[in-house]
Amino acid sequence: MNLKEISLINVRKLDFFKAQFSPTTTIITGKNGQGKTSILEAIFFLLTSKSFRKKYNKSIIKKDENMLQIKGVIEIEEEESIKIKYDSKRKEIEKNEIKVKKTSEILKYSNIVSVSPEEPDVIEIYRKETLQYFDKIIFKITPNHVETVKSYNKLLLIRNTLLENNQETFQWDKKIIKVGLLVWQERIKFFKYFIEKLERVEQKIIGKKKYSLKYLKKTPENDIEYFNKLQQKKQNKTLVGPHLDSIKFYLNEKNLQESGSQGEKKLFKYILKLTEAEIINEKKKTTPILLLDDYFAKLDDENIMKIFTFFHRKFQTIITTTKTNNTMMEKRLKNPNTTIKIIELND
Ligand SMILES: Nc1ncnc2c1ncn2[C@@H]1O[C@H](COP(=O)(O)OP(=O)(O)OP(=O)(O)O)[C@@H](O)[C@H]1O
Ligand SMILES: [Mg+2]
Repeated sequence: MNLKEISLINVRKLDFFKAQFSPTTTIITGKNGQGKTSILEAIFFLLTSKSFRKKYNKSIIKKDENMLQIKGVIEIEEEESIKIKYDSKRKEIEKNEIKVKKTSEILKYSNIVSVSPEEPDVIEIYRKETLQYFDKIIFKITPNHVETVKSYNKLLLIRNTLLENNQETFQWDKKIIKVGLLVWQERIKFFKYFIEKLERVEQKIIGKKKYSLKYLKKTPENDIEYFNKLQQKKQNKTLVGPHLDSIKFYLNEKNLQESGSQGEKKLFKYILKLTEAEIINEKKKTTPILLLDDYFAKLDDENIMKIFTFFHRKFQTIITTTKTNNTMMEKRLKNPNTTIKIIELND
């Protein structure tokens, strides 16, 4: 997938912005607060109808305006144009100037992977959110998992409500077991695949194995054990099931959240996201677009170049930064054959 150009109106402080992107790497530079993250956010919003920022909703529309509009030209097999309008209540999407009725029609454009200091930090978030983070990656490659997780959560809510009111849960137990096992089945398959890919990406980027990801779960042996565990003493909560799974990250066998430095954490986040990009590339058979917000911050020159070498020419990438005075990067940019494009934001 290739994003050729974008134009936007009323996204955060930007009343208007238009740019063409390199099919390889584009670097957007500018001072703090000039709208770099907002441009990436607009691209993400155009392709997924959502923002990556933690809190956004109405605030993505420029203050004192009532509507934003983002347009883009994308090439998958052929060139297509898409447009989104948002007035804080409704989103209106057009594809090749024709109104899109179902979001499934634009699902194929959502192959996009972002890394931004403005999004929830996967290393620092709570256990439940980490689970959601990975479930969302599973949704991208196995859309059925959405329904399975939704129905599990619904059953869990019903069961917990019954338990709180000292009511019989028997008729729900069989149902929750069936769906719970399906959630586990999908996650087990996914993490095996994801961890394999992660190790390969890590090997390519840093050349050795330092980081690891562990998927921790307490799965019963079979339906009967699952059922028995659900019945164990009188609890007012469901204390067995995939909702209790957790994911932990390690650096040299030590808990990354507790003992990693800022740069080490950032490097791991990149390895995670690039693994996701690799998986999308393989499973969806379209190359995803990478959005790397504030790329140069906290990483040393060597890591910057190692990550860059991994994604450059492999995925179309749009980077933002406040500076381009990275020595190795500068050399690269002086190469007359470079396909890297630089966009400088001015007031
Ligand atoms: N709804 C809005 N209307 C007008 N301005 C807004 C709105 N929301 C945010 N802003 C402003 O937009 C500016 C641009 O924000 P953005 O995060 O894109 O900057 P940036 O270039 O990424 O900065 P940094 O280098 O600090 O990350 C900020 O000054 C912010 O206060
Ligand atoms: Mg920013």
